Amino acid sequence: MATPWDNAAQGYVEEWMPRFVPYHMDLIREVKLAPGQRVFVAAAGPGAEVLAAAREVGETGFVRAVDSSAMMASICREKVEAAGLKNVEVLHGDASEIDGGTWDAVLCAFGLWQLQDRVTGLKAWRKGLSQAGKIGILTWGPTEEDDLFERVARCLQHCEPDVASPNPKSFALRDPMNEMFEKADLTMVRHTVVRHTLSFKTAEAFIAALKESCTWRRVWEDLGDARLGKVAARFYGLVGGPDAPLAWSPPATLAIAGVPGSEIDIASRASVRVPVTGSVPPPSAVKK
Ligand SMILES: C[S@@+](CC[C@H](N)C(=O)[O-])C[C@H]1O[C@@H](n2cnc3c(N)ncnc32)[C@H](O)[C@@H]1O
Repeated sequence: MATPWDNAAQGYVEEWMPRFVPYHMDLIREVKLAPGQRVFVAAAGPGAEVLAAAREVGETGFVRAVDSSAMMASICREKVEAAGLKNVEVLHGDASEIDGGTWDAVLCAFGLWQLQDRVTGLKAWRKGLSQAGKIGILTWGPTEEDDLFERVARCLQHCEPDVASPNPKSFALRDPMNEMFEKADLTMVRHTVVRHTLSFKTAEAFIAALKESCTWRRVWEDLGDARLGKVAARFYGLVGGPDAPLAWSPPATLAIAGVPGSEIDIASRASVRVPVTGSVPPPSAVKK
């Protein structure tokens, strides 16, 4: 079945994937993969994190990438082939379809917010996880006033109050994230915010790129050029005009969870005993 991501795939690859790679690299580093491990990548998109994971686990390891957009899966397959990686399988399917043995890690970068039922997704991944396995999530948020994604969303809200923000961020916060993991019988052992600078030559180029992203593309298609043009005009007014260069560092939340009672390795702390109660160490106790 076609998904809205099929049409948005090429624009995502050109405009967003290169800008998001530093975030993907944070996830790969923090989750700490080892040679020979088996990694399931859910909602893999064009696969930047897939390539990075495949290199970490090496020839003796294995990575399966799954995406529900046939176009995204096909682009991911091309990128895997172009990189000469033989230890990766790319499937067109739902993120929750995790079978084929146990997995040392499940990774989901910028995909969890897309799932209709996140807890059901996490429960499926939990079932496929090895005893010392870990789940690594990367998701946009928390909400920050001056994040340009947020500012443009607020312009949308101002001009079109009936249209919902295309990218919900509320579950990125520590407590909701913790709660979500607990509902899936997982315990969060790491919750941190990472940020990297994104830049665009002009505000107009940013809006054009946004139009190519899946969710904003749908908003654009629904409202049409004239109404969305007003949203863009409002945004330009806030940032110094359509020709103003833009650079900002949007926060993304990186969270890692494991099976309660297990012993797992993550970059910030080797050999973590995953608490059974789901108590999360305070940020001060976690070394970066
Ligand atoms: C923002 S992109 C992220 C892609 C990639 N992980 C990255 O970080 O660049 C979200 C991806 O989630 C995929 N997706 C959405 N719902 C899905 C589902 N239920 N199962 C699998 N993939 C899904 C979309 O097709 C899209 O490729």
